[in-house]
Amino acid sequence: MLINNKNYKTIWVNNSGKIKIIDQNLLPFKFKEVELKNLRDTIVAISTMQVRGAPLIGVTAAYGMHLAIKESPLKKNIIHAGKKLIASRPTAINLKWAVDKIINKVLKFPSDKRKSISLEVAKKLSEDDEVINEKIGKQGSKLILDIFKKKKKAVNILTHCNAGWLATVDWGTATSPIYKARDLDIPIHVWVDETRPRNQGSFLTSWELMQEKIDNTIITDNAGGYLMKQGLVDIVITGSDRTTFTGDVCNKIGTYLKALAAYENNVPFYVALPSSTIDWNNSSGDQILIEERNENEIHFIKGLNSKNKIESIRVTPSAAKAFNVAFDVTPRKYISGLITEYGIVKANKKEIMSIKKKIK
Ligand code: MRU
Repeated sequence: MLINNKNYKTIWVNNSGKIKIIDQNLLPFKFKEVELKNLRDTIVAISTMQVRGAPLIGVTAAYGMHLAIKESPLKKNIIHAGKKLIASRPTAINLKWAVDKIINKVLKFPSDKRKSISLEVAKKLSEDDEVINEKIGKQGSKLILDIFKKKKKAVNILTHCNAGWLATVDWGTATSPIYKARDLDIPIHVWVDETRPRNQGSFLTSWELMQEKIDNTIITDNAGGYLMKQGLVDIVITGSDRTTFTGDVCNKIGTYLKALAAYENNVPFYVALPSSTIDWNNSSGDQILIEERNENEIHFIKGLNSKNKIESIRVTPSAAKAFNVAFDVTPRKYISGLITEYGIVKANKKEIMSIKKKIK
């Protein structure tokens, strides 16, 4: 997708073989490319959220495994690196999925082959992510088209956090149907939840939609219910960090409240996700480990000061306590459907298991 009219991916291998990412902690204020040189850099990039979003975390971890194997191709080191990467952010299952893909593949080969094999697998996962997200977009755009055919006016879509292209290698999950609907000339307007405390909505989603010239408006996290009641939201589309095979969806904190408001107001609530986000071992959202992040993410907020420098300022009383829970679980009953690369399915075990049969 576009940044200043130039096409970018969120992670890439440059002509000199360096693994590059965009430092998302600096967006939308500053654009900076960063090199991942080793396993340590990768763990820092994931845990400090220079890269974030379930699919992108997965692909980054795959490259991190390659960097670890470059340091030492021995089985003991590979397993240890995998454990460290998986622990760097516990909720998004794509992380474990990608690490397991690399481990399962490289251990079939002798040590001297593991470096090149791991790079091949990481590149393949990255390319697949783009293809899969584009498919999600094509599937999801049908929902937007149906609304447009009935309404004959701009379709209002509400999204939470950033499940945009910045959260994947390209296209995004929740935003991919938006980009594809735009390509079908459907007029669109997006309500972007600010998504405190890290503001992925106002910092990232709004910025990426503007780069693509998609009309959008930032709203506070508490505004969605009011807008739905006023009939100003036609559909909600979010992403997912982990979806149980029974259909419960874990996503950025606040997603659950949006789903409740959508249910109450008869607004369709869809979740866009690649099949790599499905947890095939988990039958209930209650079993998902929810990441708790540093409370300073609530106490401090980043912005541009009058000298155009990025500055962090405290926005809470100095002795105040804060509880920074990063994700919540939306029970399946509030979800109208899951938009996957294999089609749109209901959030229930039968339909989700039908996807499993299609995965190669
Ligand atoms: O904490 P983040 O920014 O990694 O959270 C991101 C989300 O919750 C996304 O909605 C989710 O990862 C899906 S991304 C396509």
